[in-house]
Order: sequence, then C-alpha cells, then structure tokens
Amino acid sequence: MAKKAYLEYDGKKIALPVIIGTENEVAIDISKLRSETGLITLDKGFKNTGSTTSEITYLDGEKGILRHRGYSIEDLASKSTFTEVCYLLIYGNLPTSNQLLKFEIKLKSHTLVHEDFKIILDGFPSNAHPMGILSSLITSLTAFYPKSIDPNRSGDKVDLSIIRMLSKFPTFVAWSYKKRIGHPIVYPDNNLDYCSNFLKMMFKMPTENYDYNPLISDVLNKLLILHADHEQNCSTSTVRIVGSSLSSIYASISGGMNALWGPLHGGANQAVIEMLEKIKKDGSNINKYIKKAKDKNDPFRLMGFGHRVYRNFDPRAKIIKEAADNVLDKLGINDPILDLAKALEKIALKDQYFIDKKLYPNVDFYSGIIYRALGFPPEMFTVMFAFGRLPGWIAQWKEMRKNNEPLGRPRQIYTGKKSLKYVEIDKR
Ligand code: CMC
Repeated sequence: MAKKAYLEYDGKKIALPVIIGTENEVAIDISKLRSETGLITLDKGFKNTGSTTSEITYLDGEKGILRHRGYSIEDLASKSTFTEVCYLLIYGNLPTSNQLLKFEIKLKSHTLVHEDFKIILDGFPSNAHPMGILSSLITSLTAFYPKSIDPNRSGDKVDLSIIRMLSKFPTFVAWSYKKRIGHPIVYPDNNLDYCSNFLKMMFKMPTENYDYNPLISDVLNKLLILHADHEQNCSTSTVRIVGSSLSSIYASISGGMNALWGPLHGGANQAVIEMLEKIKKDGSNINKYIKKAKDKNDPFRLMGFGHRVYRNFDPRAKIIKEAADNVLDKLGINDPILDLAKALEKIALKDQYFIDKKLYPNVDFYSGIIYRALGFPPEMFTVMFAFGRLPGWIAQWKEMRKNNEPLGRPRQIYTGKKSLKYVEIDKR
C-alpha cells in the first residue's frame, strides 16, 4: 500500500502522498497542500526541499556517495573520458565505442565559432572576469542560431544546439583567455581529442609549436568528469528554473553560469587559492585563520570547506587531492600552497568546530592547486568548473523539458507593510 504522511492543522488532518526514490530517499508530496489547507511550506535556501524527481545523479551526502546514471564517480574518474561522461549524462547510457566515435566526430564538426565572435570578444575590457564574458558568449549563441531559441523544436534540432554548445565552449574559453593575456587566438585542431584540442587553444604560444602532453590531457579529463554533474545545486536549479519558462537552452545555461560564479558555489576554487595565498603572505599562521573562520562576528569562512549536502567527505575532493599530489609530482612542481592546504586541512579536521558542524574539504579545495600547476590563472578556475558542469546542465535541462515540468515559481510569506493609502505629492 502506498505510504502517506499526515499533517494536522487547525483541527483538520490531511493525508499527503509519500514519494520513494530508487535509493529509498523519501519525500512528502506537498503539491496539494495549499489547495487543501491554505498553507504553503517555507524553506529558505531550499535546504529541505526537493524541486524535482530526476534520473541523472544520485548523491548521498551522509555516506559520501556520488553516482551518475548509476555509475560511481570513482569509476568514471578513473576509467572514462570526459566525452564519454558527457554522453552518459546527456543520453542516459554509457556509449558503445561506435557511439562514442560518432559523438566525438559530431563534436569535432562544430568546434569553429563564427568570426564575428571575435568582434564581441574585442568589445570586452581585457581585465573583464572571464565568467562574465563566457556567459555572455553562450547567450550570444541564440543570436547566431536564432532557431535555437525555441526549446520545443524536435529532438534532433535540440541535439544540434547541445552539440554546438559542447563543441564551441572550449573555443570560447580559450579565446577569452588569449584575449585576457593579449595573445592571438588559436583555432581548433580537429586532429586532436576534445581535451587536447582545448589545451592547445589555451596554451599554444604564437612563436612555438605546441607540445602535446598526454599526462595533462588525462588530468584535465579527470577534473572535468569530477565536475560534470551534482544534482539540484544552485547553478543547476537555476538552469532548470530559467528553462522552465521555455527559455532557450543557451539562455538557461548562461543563467546557470552566472549562478555558479559566486564564491559560495563554483567561485570557491578561485577564492581558495586567494585565501591560501593570503595565509601564506601572513606568515602561514593557520591557527589565526581557523580562529577567524570560527568567529561568528568575522565574515571570514574557510573557503573550500563545507557543503550543503555532504556531511561527510566530498568523494570528489578525495580524488582531487590524490590527483593534485600525483600531478605536481609528475610535473616536478613543488608548490608550497599544496603543503599549506594539507596542513590547513589537517588542523581543521581535528578542530571541534569543524567536527561538530561536519565541515570537510569540498571539490574546490584542491582543484585550484591542480589548475594552477597546469598553467591556469585563478580567474579561469571557475570557468573550468563551468566547462566541466556543462554536460550536467544540459542533461538536467533536457530532462526538465522531456518531463514537461511546470513553470518554476515559488511562493512567499509577505512580511511588508499592510495596505497604505496613497497620498499624492505635488509633482509640478
Ligand atoms: N567555514 C566556517 N564555517 C562554516 C563554513 C566554512 N567554510 N561552512 C559552513 N560553516 C558554518 C556556518 O557558519 C554555519 O554555522 P552556524 O550553524 O553556527 O550558523 C554552519 O557551518 C552551517 O553553514 P551554512 O552556511 O548554514 O550551511 P550551508 O549548507 O548553507 O552552506 C556552503 C554550504 C558551501 C555555502 C558553506 O559551507 C560555505 O560557505 N563554504 C565555503 C564556500 C565553499 O567552499 N563553497 C564551495 C562548495 S563545493 C562546490 C559546489 O558544489 O558548489
């Protein structure tokens, strides 16, 4: 028999349906609550609200489990490639080798961007933050592909928009970086795989040949996979809510990028490195900063620590920490910031404040250190998070459209002034 939850209010008792997920997650369906009782639920920050049902990603924050379409993040990060994970998230299954080959060929056939994008790029000041540039370029795709504005086009036309976005995004990222450092842009090289092509567009110097390094491509694949999806987080919820108004996929994803940018979400990777640099400059006095982080009257927070859903180690952080050690070792880089990060982590994990609040390092704590070792400047870190998250946003947008989800429109409890009489002022 279907389970029900009961709510009693003002002497009236109502039964609410209970929804149980495949991993036995349980929710009370309150969609009829208002029509039956006049009540709404209030949950600032949606800390305890499920906004949808989804088949894409399973996350158990208490146990530190993350799976995409049933596959563990550990397996995906160690055995698959980023394009394979894109396919998995967007189409629902791991590809066969033939399907993957076809998918990669499709991606290669759309890497070029219209030359007029160079004019748009030129219009930005060279010190503009690349997240602002990138989200604008993604919205601009609607101008170059006006038919893509209609989200209800047939499946293969939506698919073309998806392929275009996945293919052009690396080109946009690399070009925005080149613009920032004042170097000529590098055109895509379709003889290379997805990640290697991106690295070449980013790092090829105008005066030198590009040295392909498989180690760096492997690490990049891993980092992008680790960011590929994370169920209904702030940016993904934004993508779904923008898309729920029947906005185009490009507009929806651009909205998600802007949500990601902030330091409490994807902007944390840049903030972590800035924080570590600051601590180092200040004599590496870790205890001083731990004390600041615990002080309720001090706005300082330990960036890269804590997570809305993890009450245990973020499984992505474990993999990234290992990868950071590995990469720096193989590249022969001795980064004192990595040592500082490890020392900080060790002290925080033994501190009662962090233990009590179950605050562990998250995905952003070590990712910046690797990106730095690969040659990315801090302002590109969040862009790299967005790059990795692209397939997740796409998959979530697609699922939301496929299920024909209703317009996202929360309610509120009004706490402002009661009705006032308007007294006209003399405007002459
Ligand atoms: N340093 C110090 N105290 C913290 C921290 C931190 N990093 N994170 C949470 N707390 C405290 C917070 O002050 C609060 O204390 P109290 O209960 O006494 O008021 C308690 O822990 C719960 O924090 P919250 O802000 O209510 O919890 P939340 O679920 O809203 O916050 C968070 C999650 C990620 C915004 C927060 O942990 C944070 O600000 N972390 C630093 C920024 C960061 O690293 N963000 C990246 C998240 S991972 C990438 C992604 O997926 O977005």
